Amino acid sequence: MRIDVISIFPEYLEPLSLSLLGKAQSKSVLEINIHNLRDHTSDAHHTVDDTPYGGGAGMVMLPEPWGEAIDAVLASATGGTRATLIFTTPAGALFHQRRAETLAATEWLIFACGRYEGIDARVAEHFATRAEIDAVLELSLGDYVLNGGEVAAMAIIEAVARLLPGVIGNPDSLSEESHGTSGLLEAPAFTKPAIWRGLEVPALLREGNHGKIAEWRSAQAVERTRAVRPDLLPEEG
Ligand code: ADE
Repeated sequence: MRIDVISIFPEYLEPLSLSLLGKAQSKSVLEINIHNLRDHTSDAHHTVDDTPYGGGAGMVMLPEPWGEAIDAVLASATGGTRATLIFTTPAGALFHQRRAETLAATEWLIFACGRYEGIDARVAEHFATRAEIDAVLELSLGDYVLNGGEVAAMAIIEAVARLLPGVIGNPDSLSEESHGTSGLLEAPAFTKPAIWRGLEVPALLREGNHGKIAEWRSAQAVERTRAVRPDLLPEEG
């Protein structure tokens, strides 16, 4: 999979070269390119924002640098690959594991990380009409406001990239974890020692009866989900 990220703070994205995503890049399972939006400005101050039409607080990101930056990324396409263009914004649709799965099945993601009061709305509108683009998405990480889209882009990239074949050592862990195929939160996990600070690991987990362990884990998953995230449980009745 190829991923391009455009930001005014390319340094923010540096952790994407660490750990499993770094390894995936050295194995060529994943290619990540980071671009500085300011390289696509034409004035001496490398201006990327201006005051909003209609008034209001804050600044809005200019369409020209964004247009040029996304054009430049698209111009580097190879073999007719089409991209999904993602704007990370608190005004977007909520990102979740099902969306991560859909995105992991695509070939090319381009992230536009907005700052301030967002990017001039015509940028998304324009690129939705371009033949090189498969889909334009506005995605939010959650119902809170970050200082910019970089952290959201990194979270989405990590959630998507770990689903690619060859990125995670043991792919079984993908189906067993929270938000996996069951749609429930994962049961609590324990390791050695069996007793720590007077707290004992449930005996059943140490007895090696795999059927019983699986039953215990499903019951715990339901209980935990009911306590913490009842919204994830299927409707009863
Ligand atoms: N930019 C600022 N806040 C954000 C959020 N919650 N999700 C995605 N991008 C953002």
